[in-house]
Amino acid sequence: MVSTATKIAQKKFDNCIMNASGVWCYDEKELSALDKSEAASFVTKSGTLESRKGNPKPRYFETDLGSINSMGLPNQGLEYYLNFVNKVQEQNPNKNYFVSCTGFNVQEDVLLLEEVKKSGFKGIVELNLSCPNVPGKPQTGYDFETVDMILQTVFENYEGLLGVKLPPYFDIVHFDQMAKILNKYPLTYINSVNSIGNGLYIDEEQEKVVIKPKNGFGGIGGDYIKPTALANVHAFYQRLDSRIQIIGTGGIKTGRDVFEHILCGASMVQVGTALMKEGPSIFRRLTRELEAIMRSKGYEKLSDFKGKLKYMN
Ligand code: FUM
Repeated sequence: MVSTATKIAQKKFDNCIMNASGVWCYDEKELSALDKSEAASFVTKSGTLESRKGNPKPRYFETDLGSINSMGLPNQGLEYYLNFVNKVQEQNPNKNYFVSCTGFNVQEDVLLLEEVKKSGFKGIVELNLSCPNVPGKPQTGYDFETVDMILQTVFENYEGLLGVKLPPYFDIVHFDQMAKILNKYPLTYINSVNSIGNGLYIDEEQEKVVIKPKNGFGGIGGDYIKPTALANVHAFYQRLDSRIQIIGTGGIKTGRDVFEHILCGASMVQVGTALMKEGPSIFRRLTRELEAIMRSKGYEKLSDFKGKLKYMN
C-alpha cells in the first residue's frame, strides 16, 4: 500500500499536495472546490487588513512554459477568509487548513495575527513575505534585517502555528544568511518559493508586454521556475533545524515534479500555475502519478525518500 499522507506540525494530512496561495482561493466558491477535490487542504489568498481590488487587468497571462502575473494582492480581506475557514473547519473537524495573510508593515502583521487569534482559528497561518507585485513595495523576503525584525515581533505577539512564504534566493550566501535568521524562531514551516519576481514576457508579434501593471513586469511561475524552486527547497532542507518543515512550491505539473520536491526535502507541495491551467481535478492526476512513481520504486511512504537526494562522489 502506497500512502501520500504527510504531517505539518504534527497535524495530519491525507495527501501532500495542495494549492499555492493566489490560485483558486480568492473566494468561497473557489475554496469550496478545492475542499471537495483530492487536495490535501487549501490555503487562502493572502488576506490583508482591508479587502483589495488589486492591479488593473490584464494582470495574469499563460505561456507555453508557465505564467506571468501581477495581481497586486486582490483579496476579500482577512476577516472574510477566517470566517469561511472556521466554518469549513467546523464541518470537517479532522481536516487541517491554512490561512495566508500579509501586512504592508510589521504593525499590520501584528494586527492581522491578532485578528487570527480573536477568530479562534485552529489551523496554520502562512505569513506571506514575498509578494513581488505591489507597486512601490519591495519584496520583504529580500530585506534580511526586516525579515529578522518581523519574525522577532511576530513571535513576541503570536503563539499559534505559523509558517512564512519566501521568495526564491539565488546565492549560496543568501541561503546561509536567511537560514540563520529562520533558525532563530519557532517557525512551523517555510514555503519555498513564491514566483520569480519581476520577469518580463513579450508578445513578439505585437512587440508588446502581455500584462498591464508595472509596464509588463510580473512574477514568473510554472516550468521556468522548477530548478530554482528545487534548489531553494534543498538548500533550506540542508540548513534549517529539522523542527522547521518545508513546503515546496514552484513548477509542479506532474507527479514527477511532486516526487522531486519531496526528494529535495519538502514535506508537502503546493501547485500554482498548473492548477490555474487545469483546475482542481489536477490533484487527482498528480496524486495518481506520484503513487505510480512510488510504487515503481518500492516506496510506501514519503519518509522513504524525503530529503534523500543523492550527490556525486
Ligand atoms: O500579486 C499578487 O497578488 C501575488 C502575490 C504573491 O505572489 O504572493
